[in-house]
Amino acid sequence: MSADMSVTDMKGINISHNFDFSLLPRRAEVIEVCPRDGFQNVQTFIPTAQKIALLDDLAEAGFRTIEVTSFVSPKAIPQMADAAEVMADFKRRHGAIEAVALVPNVRGAEKAIDAGADVLNFVLSASESHNRENTRRTIEQSLSELAEVCRIREGKKGKKGKKIHVSVATSFFCPFEGEVSGDAVLKVVERALSLGCDGLSIADTTGTAHPVKVRDTLRAVRERYPEQKIVLHLHDTHGMALVNTLVALGLGYDAFDAAVGGLGGCPFAPGAAGNVATEDLLNFLGCLGIETEVDFSKVLAVAQSIPGRLGVPLCSHLAAARACKI
Ligand code: COA
Ligand code: ZN
Repeated sequence: MSADMSVTDMKGINISHNFDFSLLPRRAEVIEVCPRDGFQNVQTFIPTAQKIALLDDLAEAGFRTIEVTSFVSPKAIPQMADAAEVMADFKRRHGAIEAVALVPNVRGAEKAIDAGADVLNFVLSASESHNRENTRRTIEQSLSELAEVCRIREGKKGKKGKKIHVSVATSFFCPFEGEVSGDAVLKVVERALSLGCDGLSIADTTGTAHPVKVRDTLRAVRERYPEQKIVLHLHDTHGMALVNTLVALGLGYDAFDAAVGGLGGCPFAPGAAGNVATEDLLNFLGCLGIETEVDFSKVLAVAQSIPGRLGVPLCSHLAAARACKI
């Protein structure tokens, strides 16, 4: 049935808006971010050996890319004080997995490269107030710093071409300014790409995006950059992360960040809940017939081990369900 044909059933209800699941991507990539986004929001310091053990279990589950840690000021995020050790250990033992490090500045980028990260995920926000809270810089200052990070990468080419991605925080709503316009997101994206970045993620830092907002912003970005690989990074404060995922899939987006156990949250976005749980996302994609390289049952086992290992509660539908069958 063509999308514009309106058909009503015998009660006069319009049944023509039939979601055509066959048009969704057949495969999707899921990037595990719990070791960075999840851990950064855990208040008590997780011993380095425990971080490494959880990373090992995640590596076993088949992820092609894992965000391993962040190279940030230990004064801002004490949990990440052992970033260099965690990254170096991870690369030594899981060299084939693409290791991402979040960085907010040149200092972090240099440390991440030296520790062996494959991808530098440079964070800056689409809203001025959140960028200031998170990085103590204006957007313009963060962009100049990003330019410097790109120059450093050129200088260190011998160290096997590091990729630079830009994570555009507060792409839908800002905890301080409210709704963020699609134009504000496009402005940052355009500048980042013109500096030579290899990839992008569009982040719902507050976890308050909804399907209409997600459709409008993601469509605007996709229209302007039809070929660009773009990752969607969703938090689940209002419980709409999976429905937002469906909207994104409908627009052809096929790469998603997620955190095992649904951990996560930006300490500089008050009230934000965790990321969409990896196990919930994998189950959702599976129900839609969308393949990934990740072993669902291994991820679920890791999620269920988290309260015992880390002493934090789960924010995941599947891991919390006592008799989970899919
Ligand atoms: N890694 C480690 N230490 C760093 C660092 C980095 N990337 N950047 C700065 N520092 C250190 C400095 O050496 C300095 O230490 P000192 O006081 O012992 O000399 C201290 O942090 C402050 O340095 P300063 O130059 O004032 O920091 P800054 O203003 O340039 O940058 C940020 C501040 C961005 C580093 C800090 O706000 C930060 O790390 N924010 C974390 C953002 C984050 O992780 N948010 C959640 C994820 S989105
Ligand atoms: Zn996040």
